[in-house]
Amino acid sequence: MDDAPVHARVLVASNRGPVSFTLDDDGTTTMRRGGGGLVSGLSAVVGSRGAGTSEPTGKADVIWACAALTDADRQAARRAPGGRLDLAGHDTGGAAVRMLDIPPPVFHRAYNAIANSTLWFVHHLLYDTPITPNFDVGFRREWDSYRAYNRAFVEALADDAAPGAKVVVQDYHLTLTPGMLRERRPDLRIAHFSHTPWAPPDYYRMLPDEYGREVLEGILGADHAGFLSQRWADAFVACCETFLGARTDGRTVEHRGRRTRIGVHALGIDGPALSQRAGQPDVDGRYAALREIVGDRRLVVRIDRTELSKNIVRGLAAYREMLRTYPEWQGRVVHLAFAYPSRHDLPEYREYTAAVQRIAAEIEDEFGTEDWGPLVLQVNDDYPRSLAAYRLADVLLVNPIRDGMNLVAKEGPILSERGCALVLSREAGAAAELGEDAVLVNPYDISGTARALHGALRMPAEERLERCRRLAATASALPPQRWFADQLAALD
Ligand code: F6P
Repeated sequence: MDDAPVHARVLVASNRGPVSFTLDDDGTTTMRRGGGGLVSGLSAVVGSRGAGTSEPTGKADVIWACAALTDADRQAARRAPGGRLDLAGHDTGGAAVRMLDIPPPVFHRAYNAIANSTLWFVHHLLYDTPITPNFDVGFRREWDSYRAYNRAFVEALADDAAPGAKVVVQDYHLTLTPGMLRERRPDLRIAHFSHTPWAPPDYYRMLPDEYGREVLEGILGADHAGFLSQRWADAFVACCETFLGARTDGRTVEHRGRRTRIGVHALGIDGPALSQRAGQPDVDGRYAALREIVGDRRLVVRIDRTELSKNIVRGLAAYREMLRTYPEWQGRVVHLAFAYPSRHDLPEYREYTAAVQRIAAEIEDEFGTEDWGPLVLQVNDDYPRSLAAYRLADVLLVNPIRDGMNLVAKEGPILSERGCALVLSREAGAAAELGEDAVLVNPYDISGTARALHGALRMPAEERLERCRRLAATASALPPQRWFADQLAALD
């Protein structure tokens, strides 16, 4: 790539990058832009004055390092000089992208076994503890791969960073990167951001001591460790105290002579951009089709990846209990449940998807009549259809067991046309911001959630509209642009 910088002043590192590739029949690859807050966040700082510095920055000042996730990504990465993709004509938020071709077995063990089956499970409290986890010799091998995967990012970042550059490392895939990078390039200013919750010490201690400490020390290699809510930040600090004996005043953690600042940066929605997208013809088309299905009935919507932490099975059980306990809703309400595929390499996720489908069939079987389908479960990913459902919803159900933030809870109220009531798990990071205007639930309490759904459906229209307006204002108060700029500013 001609204009690719040799050294960047701002670097982003994340497992999933801003683009992905598909393999065409003739062996060529086609690039697709990924969505997500990070891309929008970057656009705001790249090309403007700053990228968090006092000087103007050009397009080439930012490099985004990410992993090749599929065979098509690998091919594209191999063909790219130095792994730097040719992004002509694609909006990646203005960054050059370096895609790392990490050997598939190493990637698989790091991503599936450690990041998604260990760290994700720990932070979301997902283990079925009589059976899992099992930290045996196989786990130790997987951990070596997690180290190697983090090391690959470190090498790329160290090669690409200008002296004193800012490096913003994202998430649980890359917890070791800040510490390793600090050793290799002490001149860099490094931030780490966790998009997940953080486990409380009593759960975190399930990890073998040396690995639990390695993760904490890895993140403490950063100058700034960011979290989506105060609760997750506090849990991280508590783990540092408990397992490292680190000193802390709550806002900084001191360990081995270094000090890391702890920051809370809630992530919200770019409201105008989302509304603009939701007004496109493809969304209007889906809107009309959904209206047809719902008719003049009330509508409860949920939209999730089919992810263990999203608690879809209990959400459906709560809807079933509502229909049983408050039979006046039978025939008068429809539940649209969009449960998009996720992490199907992992058996737990495949089994969970089957459990979602099972309970959906049971509900249909128990209540369905010739002219009323109580539940529409869709498992194919269709973004415009999700936007159409947000526009139509009377009630939005977001009931995760635990969630770093949950952006569905924020998108829904922004797009709602008649004002939707939000039934929200108190265990989602978003509850800290939206709790006052949402109906909060304990995600394990199926009867409580059923009552909350009933109450939300009965909420007077005016109150619903008023609450929804406030929810939308809060949800768009901290757009991704602001969130990303804050992370950079924290390194000044
Ligand atoms: O919640 C943290 C997060 O990084 C999300 O931003 C993202 O949706 C998910 O975890 C990772 O998903 P995947 O494994 O599909 O990349």
